[in-house]
Amino acid sequence: MSSVAELLKQAQNEVAITADPHELDDVRVKYLGKKGSITSLLKSLGKLPANKRAQAGKEINTAKDSLIESIQAQQLKISANEIANKLALNKIDITLSGRGPDSGNLHPITQTLRRIKKIFALANFEVRIGPEIEDDYHNFTALNIPEDHPARAMHDTFYLNSGSLLRTHTSPVQIRAMQKEGAPIRLIAPGRVYRCDSDLTHTPMFTQVEGLAVGDNVSFANLKFILYEFVSHFFEREVELRFRPAYFPFTEPSAEVDIRSDSGDWLEILGCGMVHPNVLRNVGIDPEKYTGYAFGMGVDRLAMLRYGVDDLRIFFENDLRFIEQFS
Ligand code: DAH
Repeated sequence: MSSVAELLKQAQNEVAITADPHELDDVRVKYLGKKGSITSLLKSLGKLPANKRAQAGKEINTAKDSLIESIQAQQLKISANEIANKLALNKIDITLSGRGPDSGNLHPITQTLRRIKKIFALANFEVRIGPEIEDDYHNFTALNIPEDHPARAMHDTFYLNSGSLLRTHTSPVQIRAMQKEGAPIRLIAPGRVYRCDSDLTHTPMFTQVEGLAVGDNVSFANLKFILYEFVSHFFEREVELRFRPAYFPFTEPSAEVDIRSDSGDWLEILGCGMVHPNVLRNVGIDPEKYTGYAFGMGVDRLAMLRYGVDDLRIFFENDLRFIEQFS
């Protein structure tokens, strides 16, 4: 039976030099598998004389158990080695400096609004704001747009159940300011406006800046001067403007103003005109005594031109990859 001890010793030596689970399993199969050497010894017990069987069986089984133990110990050793190797490979350099917090930036529309306010402040326009939820009177009627007026249909208004509405333009701020402060007055009114409209160049919410100047002898020439001054400051270059006769119920005469783009196309950026006498009367200002001009510009349009953006909608999708570019 010394051969059992030798066999065990040989098997344990083979186990001890395995370096991975597959090698180890090969050794296990070689000795303990169905056709393994130790398994065969057990199977051949029957051929021994009856008086030797018990003793031999005990020896072989003891050898089998020690081999199983050795294999289990080796398994632990191999996985400990694997972990150690992985750790050595992925060493972390804790002396490297950290990544620091990301810094935010103002949204391009906010930056554009700030820029517009700054420029008008140079010409003594004060900022007034009004509510985004408006009533019919301030959004339409007081602006010389009576109930049955076709201009209402152009506005694609969002109505609320209460009978209020989301303002379709910033012009109602003119009314509120003149009601409260009278004339003379000189203001801009930046803010969000809403229309039931959505495509490449229209979003259901967009941004306008309204302008109003009412006083003694305020003329269309004054209006043109202010607009030329504004756009040349805004775009930091001489800009070509085109005044096209247009119709707005709250101004007479009225014009739409186009700007010449780099590619030579004309793009509409605002509507304007001389405040209609009916509007002045509606807020208690004597149109015989005072005249005024007004304008309303699309801020998003100006931002698109300034930054060379051709799809209005991406301003409002809040994709960081887009808005991070404006820091
Ligand atoms: N409220 C007009 C609109 O949203 C824009 C506008 C045109 C405003 C002419 C004005 C103006 O003050 O005089 O389409």
